Amino acid sequence: MKMGDPILCPEIKYTQLFINNEWVNSQSGKTFPTLNPCTGKEICQVQEADKADVDLAVKAARAAFRRGSPWRKLDASKRGQLMNKLARLMRENITYIASLETLDNGKPYLDAREDIIAATENIEYYAGWCDKIHGQTIPVDGSYFTFTRHEPVGVCGAIIPWNYPVQMLAWKLGPTLACGCTVVVKPAEQTPLTALYIASLIKEAGFPPGVVNILPGYGPTAGAAIAEHMDINKVAFTGSTEVGHLIMQAAGRTNLKRVSLELGGKSPFIILEDCDLDQAAMFAHAAVMNNHGQNCCAGSRTYVQESIYEEFVARCKAMAEMRIVGDPYDGMTQQGPQIDEEQFNKILGLIESGKQQGASLQCGGERQGDIGYFVKPTVFSDVTDDMRIAKEEIFGPVQSILKFKDIDEVIERANNTSYGLAAGVMTRDINKALKISQNLDAGSVWVNCYDVVKSQTPFGGFKKSGQGRELREYALHECTEIKTVTINFPEKYL
Ligand code: NAI
Ligand code: MG
Repeated sequence: MKMGDPILCPEIKYTQLFINNEWVNSQSGKTFPTLNPCTGKEICQVQEADKADVDLAVKAARAAFRRGSPWRKLDASKRGQLMNKLARLMRENITYIASLETLDNGKPYLDAREDIIAATENIEYYAGWCDKIHGQTIPVDGSYFTFTRHEPVGVCGAIIPWNYPVQMLAWKLGPTLACGCTVVVKPAEQTPLTALYIASLIKEAGFPPGVVNILPGYGPTAGAAIAEHMDINKVAFTGSTEVGHLIMQAAGRTNLKRVSLELGGKSPFIILEDCDLDQAAMFAHAAVMNNHGQNCCAGSRTYVQESIYEEFVARCKAMAEMRIVGDPYDGMTQQGPQIDEEQFNKILGLIESGKQQGASLQCGGERQGDIGYFVKPTVFSDVTDDMRIAKEEIFGPVQSILKFKDIDEVIERANNTSYGLAAGVMTRDINKALKISQNLDAGSVWVNCYDVVKSQTPFGGFKKSGQGRELREYALHECTEIKTVTINFPEKYL
């Protein structure tokens, strides 16, 4: 590796809670370990937030949001300047941030760099929106003049997963800050370190105290305290569908806070016989193997038309066997360890179910090495729709390849799931591409590509894959209240 070589043992600079621009210990005095997934060993102890700390953070966020506060008085364009400054600081420190991410998360260092770049671009994208969020003037019936204001929704909560820690942080911060909200963020307990370092950059950039608060802690304690808080106006969550249910229930039980959810998926990738086979096999492999399969939109059901099925399976097998698994700091490595023991065991359990339910194991199918949470890239063929590996989100490097005959059949089968996050189609026929993309229940459909997610493209799920949309201006709608102002306009002026 050359440009921006990784720091193999990055110094851990921040392990406390970040509340009101200060570093503080938890109220309970408790800490928790964050582990290196390559070894399962502790990296360091981090302060553990719970309800009392969430209360303090929400108070700070509320004070920062109050009428007349420095944040509320700031010109919208100046908010954009602060966000651009944060993005610049993230770029300047990319080698450190990516190295820290690799240590805490296990993803290859070069992938971590890509994540940080995408996160930075996302902050810049939303910086540009700050002074372009506005309402309408409306030709209302009668003698009135009506206009709308798009006002910040208030104090937001954000609960972040461990698979893309910095990107998911940026996806939450971008629209929240652009709209002028304040926020209490809970990073995932597996990966708190990069969010804490970015908190230091938020302070350095000059955001007023209380605008962003970052509290590492566990889901059922700190996470639930955010979801249940009576003084949080909106919560954004990315994670499992199971917890998505809990977040909505919590909102329903408490103050009916607004909820946006990005949840799981079991996304179909449909390969038609007229496709470019080399390209299709490469995309289908990457669609499920990238980020060790820990991707909400992973193309985890590969549907292949029967005339090309055998050839396609052989190619997927060859690619999986060539995939380089190992030290994530090595520039050649494509796959590091899974995030933790729980995910590792879940994946191995699902692989076992595939073997037992009669799928043909082409390669992999077991752990790699005897320390850490490495799983060999695994390919199953002869998978049928009723098998667990075709139905459940595996979140690991496991490709399930299914066979289909015709397009109407594959559309039905692809849609036969409670999820609806994403889908892919490989074909040279534009009419087939349009027919399939129109008929799939999915928030994103990629044709002759996969996983193309940019700040400019709305992202989110149909069905149980989520509520609301992130990215583009759609995410701004989640963070704004619309106020209708109607003024009596006497007829004598008409
Ligand atoms: P999770 O949904 O439990 O965790 C995601 C975030 O939610 C973490 O910050 C966690 O602390 C928090 N959380 C957990 N329980 C909570 C609660 N009761 N109230 C509020 N917040 C809570 O996901 P987990 O356990 O890490 O992984 C389980 C499965 O979820 C994975 O195998 C995968 O299938 C899916 N998943 C999907 C993700 C996505 O990108 N859509 C990301 C992570 C997991
Ligand atoms: Mg969980």
